Amino acid sequence: MFSGRKKRCEVGEVFFLYGPSGSGKSSLGRELTQKLGLNFCDLDAEIEAQAGKSIATIFAEEGESGFRIREKQILQQTVAARPGVVALGGGALLDPESRALVTRQGDVLCLTASLETLLERLHQEHDRPLLEGDRREKMIHMLGERSGHYDSFSMKLDTGGLILEQAVREAQIIMGAFQIHGMGLSYDVRIKKGSLKDLGTALRVRDLLGPMVVVSDKNVGRLYSGRVGASLRKVNYEEYGMLFPAGEVNKTLETVAQLWDVFVRARMERKSTVIALGGGVVGDLAGFAAATFLRGVPWVNVPTSLLAMVDASVGGKTGVNLPQGKNLIGAFHAPRLVHVDPEVLSTLPDVELRNGLAEVVKTGVIGDPGLFARCQEGESAVRSNLDELVRRSIAVKIDIIKEDPYENGIREALNLGHTVGHAVEMVSDFGLHHGEAVSIGMVAEARLSQRMGLAENGLVERLTEALKGLGLPVQIPEDMSRDDLIAVMKLDKKRAEGKLRFSLPIRVGDVQTGIEINETEVVELLG
Ligand SMILES: NC(=O)c1ccc[n+]([C@@H]2O[C@H](COP(=O)([O-])OP(=O)(O)OC[C@H]3O[C@@H](n4cnc5c(N)ncnc54)[C@H](O)[C@@H]3O)[C@@H](O)[C@H]2O)c1
Repeated sequence: MFSGRKKRCEVGEVFFLYGPSGSGKSSLGRELTQKLGLNFCDLDAEIEAQAGKSIATIFAEEGESGFRIREKQILQQTVAARPGVVALGGGALLDPESRALVTRQGDVLCLTASLETLLERLHQEHDRPLLEGDRREKMIHMLGERSGHYDSFSMKLDTGGLILEQAVREAQIIMGAFQIHGMGLSYDVRIKKGSLKDLGTALRVRDLLGPMVVVSDKNVGRLYSGRVGASLRKVNYEEYGMLFPAGEVNKTLETVAQLWDVFVRARMERKSTVIALGGGVVGDLAGFAAATFLRGVPWVNVPTSLLAMVDASVGGKTGVNLPQGKNLIGAFHAPRLVHVDPEVLSTLPDVELRNGLAEVVKTGVIGDPGLFARCQEGESAVRSNLDELVRRSIAVKIDIIKEDPYENGIREALNLGHTVGHAVEMVSDFGLHHGEAVSIGMVAEARLSQRMGLAENGLVERLTEALKGLGLPVQIPEDMSRDDLIAVMKLDKKRAEGKLRFSLPIRVGDVQTGIEINETEVVELLG
C-alpha cells in the first residue's frame, strides 16, 4: 500500500499499469515510480501481504472468485490512499466497477507484448495459478478471451523489443508525466488533454499555498481564466487575477512592476503561488516576477501556446526584455509544476501554431527521430496529433535540461536554427514571425553544416520538405542583405572573438554544439 503523505488524491494522479502477465507491469512500475518520485504499489504483492498467503494458495483455497473479491477490496483501499503508480493484476479491471473506479482516479496504461515475449518473460515464474498446466495453451486462451478488453484502453504500449529504460521513457511520454530535478528542487510536468479544469486539485495535491495570483494576457485570460479560477475555488484557494495586454512589447520591467504591485495587494507571502497562464511572454514575465518578489516565491507554469509548451515551459528560464535587446534581464527560477493542457491549442491562432511547429521540428532534429518522422507527415496529420507532439517534444527538452540545467553545454543544442533565425527575424524587422525565421534558420544552418562536411547527405532536403509540409518558409529572402544578417549575428550572445558560434545538425537526432566559424566564412557558406 502507498505510504507517505496522507492527503487523499482526487483526480488524475494515480498511474495504473495494466495488461497480461509478463507484459512488464511490475518492473516498469518500479522504474516509473523512481522517475516520477511517487510511491509504488504492486497490487498482487499487496493482496499476498494482506492475506498472509500466496496468490496460488488463495486460488487453491478460495477459487478465482475469492481472489477477485480480495483484489477489488484492496484496489479500493489503494486508490483512496495516495498519488502513485499501481501495477494491477492481469484481470483486475474485468470488473466494471473496478474499471470505473480506476478511470475516475487516474490514468490506465495497458501494456502489451507478443505471445512469445510474454511466455519468455514468464519462463522463470511459477506462482501463476491461471496459467497452470500447458502455459502456451492457457495463455493463448486467456489472450483470446481478453484481447478486446485490453484493446479497449486508449493508452497502450507494446513493451516487446524494448529494454526497460526505453519502455519507461515511452510510458512517460504516453502518460505525459515527468519529474525534473534541478535548481535545488524537483518539479512535476503533467501533460493531459482537458486537464485545465483540474489545475486547482493538482496544486492542492502538491501542497502549494495561496493566495494564488493568476497572471495572464488579455487574449488567454478572456478564454481560460474563468476555467482556472473555478478550479482554484473548487479546492478553496483564495485567488487573484492580473491581465496585461498581449504581446512581446509588454515583456518589460514596467509590466513586472505592475505584477509586483498586484502581489503586494494580494498579500502574497513567501509560500504563496504565482500561476502563469499563457504563452511564452506570460511565462517569462510571471516567472521573473515570482523569482524576484520576496526573493523568490513559488510559481506554476500553465503554458497555452504551442511554442510555450514545447520550448519555454520547462527549464526555469525567466526574464524580460530591455529597450536594448531581448531577454537581457532574467533569472533561473524553476516552477513547482508545469501543467499542460494541449486542448487549449484549439484556440491558438494559426500563425502562432506555426511558430510552435518550427520548434517541434527543431526538437525532433535534436533528439527524437520518431518525432521528426511525425512532422514529415504534413500539416493535417500534425494538427490531429498535436497532443502527442507536445508530449514527445517536452520529453526531449527534459532530457536536455536534466543534463545541463544552467546552459553550460548540451542545452546550447536548443539554439539550432536560432543563430541565423534570430538574425533573419531582426533584419526582416519582425515582418517574419519567429517560427518562420527559425525554420529558415534551420535550413540555412543545415546547409552550413553540409558544406562543412558535417551533416549527412540528404539532411537539408529532408528538413526542407518537412518544414515546407507544415507551411513554413525555408529560404532566406533573396533581397535580404547578407551583410545585415552577419551584422546582427555579431551582436548575438552566441559570438566569441570574431567567430560565430553555432549548434549544427549532423543527422536527425544528432546536433553538435559549440561550432565556431569565422564571420567571413559564414558569409560564403550562406551564399
Ligand atoms: N523561458 C524560455 O525558456 C523560453 C523559451 C523560448 C521562448 N521564450 C519566450 O517566449 C516568448 C514567445 O512565446 P509565445 O510564442 O507563446 O508568445 P506569446 O506569449 O506572445 O503568445 C503568442 C500569442 O498567442 C496568444 N495565445 C497564447 N495561447 C493561446 C491560446 N491557447 N489561445 C488563443 N491565443 C493564445 C497570446 O495571447 C499571444 O497573442 C518570447 O518572449 C520568448 O523569448 C522563452
